[in-house]
Formats: sequence, C-alpha cells, structure tokens
Amino acid sequence: MSVQPTIKRVTVPEIRARKGGEPIVSLTAYHAHTARYIDPYVDFLLVGDSLGMVMYGMESTLGVTLDMMIAHGAAVMRGTEHALVVVDMPFGSYEESREIAFRNAVRVIKETGCTAVKIEGGARIADTIHYLNERGIPVMAHIGLTPQSVQVMGGFKTQGRDMAEWAAIEADAKAVAEAGAFAVVLEGMAEPLAAKITREIDIPTIGIGASPMCDGQILVLEDMLGLSPKPPKFVKEFGSLGAQIAGAAEAYAREVRSRAFPAVENTYSMKKAK
Ligand code: KIV
Repeated sequence: MSVQPTIKRVTVPEIRARKGGEPIVSLTAYHAHTARYIDPYVDFLLVGDSLGMVMYGMESTLGVTLDMMIAHGAAVMRGTEHALVVVDMPFGSYEESREIAFRNAVRVIKETGCTAVKIEGGARIADTIHYLNERGIPVMAHIGLTPQSVQVMGGFKTQGRDMAEWAAIEADAKAVAEAGAFAVVLEGMAEPLAAKITREIDIPTIGIGASPMCDGQILVLEDMLGLSPKPPKFVKEFGSLGAQIAGAAEAYAREVRSRAFPAVENTYSMKKAK
C-alpha cells in the first residue's frame, strides 16, 4: 500500500492517553482563518453546533443542520494542520437509530476530513456510540447540560447541584466510557460531581463550566475572545475583540466620512497622463 504524505495532526489515541496527565486544551472553531490562529495552541478543535447561536444568531442549537456542520467543519479543516478536529452531530442527525447516526457521521467524516464526531447524551445513546466506534468512527460524548435537550430541561441549567441527580449523571458517564467514547465533555456541571466523574472513569473528561479537576477544558472561542454579547457566567474573557472591532469600525467610518480614506493611491487609480 502506498501512503500519501499527510499533515501530522493530534490523534484520538493521543487524546485518550492524556487521561490524568497534562491537561487537554481545546476551543471551538467555525471558521478557517480564526482556526488557523488558534491551531498551534490547542490539542483539539470542536466545530460545535453552538455555531447556530454564535455565527447565525439562533436562540438555541436546535435549528442547526448537518449541511451547516459539514460546511463549517470543512472550513476549519482547511485552516488547520495540527489540532485534532471534532465535528458536532446536530440535533436530529443521530437519535433515530444507530444506522442513521452512522450514515450521517460518515457524511461528516468524508465531506469534512475531520477525525471524530461528538454526540450529546449518556446511557440513552451508548449503543450508538458503540456502533459508530466499532465501524471506525471515533466518538466524543457530551453529558451534563446538553443544549440539544434545552426544551426538555426547560433552559440551560447547571446539572448536579442537587445530589439526588448524581447517580444518573454518573451512570451516563460510565455508559459512554464503556461504549468506547474516547473522551467526554462535561458541560454545566456542579464541580464536585465533575471531579468525582473524572476520578471514576478511564477516559478524559473535558470541562466547560464544570471543574478545574477535569482532564481538559473547552471554551467557545468567541466567548473567551470577548466577542459574545452575553457569555455564560463561568467564562473568563482572555481578549476584548468585541470592543476592538467596534473601535476599528468607528475609526474607519470617521476616515471615510472625512474623505481621509484611502490614504494612499490605490491600484485602480487612473494612469497619469504623460
Ligand atoms: O457546541 C459546542 O460548542 C459544544 C461545546 C460547548 C462543548 O458542544
């Protein structure tokens, strides 16, 4: 078999092997150029279905389609060469049966070139995770606050504040680990529960609004860049791009209105008469 020289990306076994080791760094990405800037600093990039809210101004992730995920997944792949890229399976693309989940996940993998998919849900979706993994599709699981279930949960609510909820969430974590998920996102989860799950299962946990004790962390890029109008409370802003964009737009508008822009002769200007 001849082997094409390929870009060396972080692999699924490398992420899996980081359990209990150096914390895994990850961010979301939806766009080629921004992905290119962050690629060297992260272990994996998630093309999250949060793009429905962040890029398209939707109120939830429920309206996101498979075609949208594929278009953005392909863009992120084109912009990167180092990070492992995981693409979210959107609402409605995997719940009906494991066969439909496989068919849609194959489209994601073939049409984007990404390495893995992410699926929301715990014990109820474990059989599908097993089915995909057995057929060559690595799966990242996602439990706790699962935004695709926002209507059932009645809002984006932190999970596990009440200890009575713990057993079911721990059972979800164990079920996805046993089904073969290579890592699991713990979203919006009470810290002691996230720390307990991290101790109890043998795959890496990736926290978002969960616990510093997780094996890694993920944030929505626009939230941590200061680009989101209403970021979740737990988000630390590492930049203030929203203010910078507004400042740049204001400066540009001022120059255009005062006819100071463009300051240099542009390439389309008329040839000078001899
Ligand atoms: O869609 C997304 O961005 C996610 C992360 C918040 C984990 O699922």
